[in-house]
Amino acid sequence: MGHVGDTLTYAHIVGWGKYVPPKVMTNADISKIVDTSDEWIVPRTGIRERRIAGPKESAFTMGYAAARAALDKADILPTEVGLIICATATPEHTFPSTASLIQDALGATHAGAFDLSAGCAGFVYALSIGAQVIQGGGHQVILVIGSETLSRITNWKDRGTCILFGDGAGAVVLQASEQRGGVLSTLVRSDGSGGDLLIVPAGGSKLPASPETILRNQHTIQMDGREVFRFATRVVDKSTREVVEKAGLTLDDIELFVPHQANLRIIQAATRALGVDESRVFVNLEKYGNTSSASVPLALCEAVECGRIRPGDHIVLIGFGAGLAWAAATVQWGPPPEPRKRTVREKAVRAAIYPFAQIRSRVLRVWYRIESRLLGSPKPTSIDKDGKKK
Ligand code: UT7
Repeated sequence: MGHVGDTLTYAHIVGWGKYVPPKVMTNADISKIVDTSDEWIVPRTGIRERRIAGPKESAFTMGYAAARAALDKADILPTEVGLIICATATPEHTFPSTASLIQDALGATHAGAFDLSAGCAGFVYALSIGAQVIQGGGHQVILVIGSETLSRITNWKDRGTCILFGDGAGAVVLQASEQRGGVLSTLVRSDGSGGDLLIVPAGGSKLPASPETILRNQHTIQMDGREVFRFATRVVDKSTREVVEKAGLTLDDIELFVPHQANLRIIQAATRALGVDESRVFVNLEKYGNTSSASVPLALCEAVECGRIRPGDHIVLIGFGAGLAWAAATVQWGPPPEPRKRTVREKAVRAAIYPFAQIRSRVLRVWYRIESRLLGSPKPTSIDKDGKKK
């Protein structure tokens, strides 16, 4: 929470949405590509299947679908959104940001937008930043998205990593409120000395794409699984305790823990270290594998949908991964958003807003091309010897 003037402002989660590609890849399917088996994968990871993006799906399309579902759940128009943060390790492009593409497609014409890169901790990092912007009075409504197409950066010849990852997206809408609750505490941490443990070496400014980097598979995920495993079990326990204490609560006050869905054994080890019962920890990785920054919002959505989170519940979200980076948040779940009474005109605007956003985007794209042809490049401004512009 934060002070705005004399009043305390809280950041509540008032909408949530998810998208997963329809294509399912089972462990049996993977065993046809690399030398592995369901019998090896399930006991070591808990993963049974994952979703794989189709040719027309990407971090942008999935993030957009999840964001739209979250806005619909909150009954908030995209024009009311002040900021869009998209956590992703697999952005649509180096630039423009995936968040900007989503902003345009939604028609969120009053919103700023940026991507956030913090590996699998990205969504919880973004939630922490979004909550603090709201608590500081910066914006009233913020969209926080996690969207990943990890299948595009997976080395499908490496059985040590390709069994783990999947694609998908999740999103939440944060809204300012004077009612106590919402995001109560957050922490974000990093240890870059472990950067090499989980890395896509090429494609950045150090190793730009070249035939050599492609031949060496350097555009795909490389991981020291054992070390990442050790790091994860260490930080989940420690950061959960810290963030709960920061919220003025104890572990007994937490109804549900929603950790990053990387590996069931990591989650079980952390659960044991925390001394909490497994029934208080949400797991859905058997269906989706590790979807990096999409995993926490995907799990959060499903936990709400299946009634595992109820109004008033305290929950903890925990993300960890490449960076190394990790983050945690304590959230008090609010009452379900009250359906707004909308006039006929408002209902018509609501129904037309997304198709209109698409038309607007296309018209603007065409206009930028025409404007560029008609006007050519802007004339250079020269300055004479007296310092005056000519
Ligand atoms: O968001 C964070 C993302 N990262 C993680 O969550 C990763 C955390 N780490 C892990 O989940 C585990 O380290 C893995 C599941 C990736 C690997 O399990 P492990 O028990 O650490 O296996 P390992 O890499 O130590 O390999 C043990 C053996 C090796 O064979 P040899 O050399 O002992 O003969 C591997 O070649 O298992 C072999 N192996 C496999 N065998 C069948 C590795 N992957 C496979 C596989 N199928 N998919």
